[in-house]
Amino acid sequence: MSVFRQDDGRGHGITYLDNDGYITCTFGKPEETANRVREMVNFNCRPDDVFICAPVKSGTHWTWEMISMMYTQKAETIPKSKIEHMIEASQWEEIENLTSPRILNTHLHYNRLPKQVKEKGCKIVYVLRNPKDVSVSLYNHTVGIEPYGYKGKWEHFLPLFVHGKTEYNSWFEYVLEWEDIMASNPELPVHLIYYEDLKENTLQEVHRLGKFLGVENKDGLFEAISEKCQFDNMVKDKKQYLAPNGAFLGAGFTFYRKGDIGDWKNWFTVAQNEIFDEIYSNKMKDSKHKFRYSRKVKN
Ligand code: A3P
Repeated sequence: MSVFRQDDGRGHGITYLDNDGYITCTFGKPEETANRVREMVNFNCRPDDVFICAPVKSGTHWTWEMISMMYTQKAETIPKSKIEHMIEASQWEEIENLTSPRILNTHLHYNRLPKQVKEKGCKIVYVLRNPKDVSVSLYNHTVGIEPYGYKGKWEHFLPLFVHGKTEYNSWFEYVLEWEDIMASNPELPVHLIYYEDLKENTLQEVHRLGKFLGVENKDGLFEAISEKCQFDNMVKDKKQYLAPNGAFLGAGFTFYRKGDIGDWKNWFTVAQNEIFDEIYSNKMKDSKHKFRYSRKVKN
């Protein structure tokens, strides 16, 4: 384990934690984070734990909020940050103290998840978003959160993302691994949500999610959750709960940045887009995912 600066080739570095080749954020005390990443396979699960698994910047906060509201049976803002339920980032004693059912979340690859997720049949909600919007969102995240100490430019960050040199290594490998696991383990209780569907068809996705989780739609609960969790409401309502103590966020940073499909078009040059498409078609040639990169309906 070591804390290192990932150089973007232009003299700007990102502070990360190297866990024997697997990159994560330092999340507070690096030794403790490294310990959790290493010991994660032995994490104690409860059968009714719900795991939100997603590559970074794919809509984890949003999904966590919706599921948490479903289990509290109230469309009321959850007065804390989802980071407090993030198994690689939070103290396990605190996660142990959470009441059941625990709505946990992680960006770790499938092969790094607790063994008991599978053994105890925990439900998994798997969230994916098109990788162009993910890369832009991750760039803004990396320049906005202080402990990364990153001041580089978008054009120098993008190659790091594409080549698996940002946190949690390769987005492509993450998605391919899950695809393989889901195909070879059809009994795994996994519910896939695409960010783009959630954005454009929130209510329908909330109904699908509720059905998967076995939550009843009493007194218009799903309609209320769908509305309460809309981006503009989250921007306002979660302001004071962005992070435990709000400590590590740079001035003006928020996890609720733009919340849209297709913001990548404001960032990618034509050339960057062509290179990205070529890399995508090579790496993802065996994948069945069909990501949507634009809104169906223009604003
Ligand atoms: P942008 O940076 O593109 O705005 P995660 O929660 O996995 O870190 O993902 C963060 C991304 O989800 C951010 O994307 C954020 O704005 C977006 N997001 C969060 N809540 C949202 C909501 N209610 N509706 C739409 N997008 C949301």
